[in-house]
Amino acid sequence: MRLALAGKGGSGKTTLSATLARLQARAGLAVVVIDADSNPNVSVAMGLEAVVGPMSLPYELVSRRPTGPRLTVPVDEVLSRHGATGPDGIRLAVMGAPDHADAGCLCSAHAAVSALLADLGERPDVLTVVDLEGSPEHLSRGTARHADLLLLVAEPYFRSLETVRRLSALARQLPIPQVAVVANKVRSTTDAAAIRDFARGEGLEVLGEIPWSTDVLDADAARTPLLDAVPDSGVVQAIRALALALDRVGEPSSGLAAS
Ligand SMILES: Nc1ncnc2c1ncn2[C@@H]1O[C@H](COP(=O)(O)OP(=O)(O)OP(=O)(O)O)[C@@H](O)[C@H]1O
Ligand SMILES: [Mg+2]
Repeated sequence: MRLALAGKGGSGKTTLSATLARLQARAGLAVVVIDADSNPNVSVAMGLEAVVGPMSLPYELVSRRPTGPRLTVPVDEVLSRHGATGPDGIRLAVMGAPDHADAGCLCSAHAAVSALLADLGERPDVLTVVDLEGSPEHLSRGTARHADLLLLVAEPYFRSLETVRRLSALARQLPIPQVAVVANKVRSTTDAAAIRDFARGEGLEVLGEIPWSTDVLDADAARTPLLDAVPDSGVVQAIRALALALDRVGEPSSGLAAS
């Protein structure tokens, strides 16, 4: 499955991507993480040193086809040549980031992510987790069009929910078969109910509810992945429950409508 996480800036995409990827790798899945943020952070959130520059996906790997960008070499070769190995055996690939001011637009970097994601579709045995940046650009450009499930990270406040509404409208114009919500930074039953009500109104299922916790902030301050800093955190437990919910996505009874 190719899972992409989107949402407003700061909603928790990177924290959830890193923790979910590591939990699933520990559970025995082959996991590839794509840092598709031009301000890359997921490597650090997983417990790797910042991985940029030589590890980023070079545009030379991309062949433009009428159906969209594809890789010019086999996906495994790309990952072994240009990826890094992270904790729990995760393979990590990083979108190219601007290396100087005035570098211009990031079309090439987006095309490389799109091509990698497209070719990973030939590897159903792999869980791909794509950490997107906090803007609609991955949808307006169609970079995330090859995701099998787009998970929209929602915080319990109006502007975050408005962002989810906009992203979900864009996603529905792409051939992404499934779009769902994960609630993050939930502090009360009122918060949880607000996100559930919003999602119901938008025809979106809520696949997980992650509590707000100082554990996340303390782990960040200690520059340690949450999973290593506080393995039994309520946040980790809720992300584990999200992983179980993801396992049932695609089953006929899941109720996640293609739209
Ligand atoms: N469940 C949570 N409880 C408390 N703090 C959280 C939680 N999830 C994330 N945070 C905090 O929110 C901030 C943003 O988290 P994160 O970097 O994961 O978000 P993001 O959506 O990836 O941000 P960006 O849009 O900048 O990429 C961080 O300070 C993180 O520690
Ligand atoms: Mg992020």
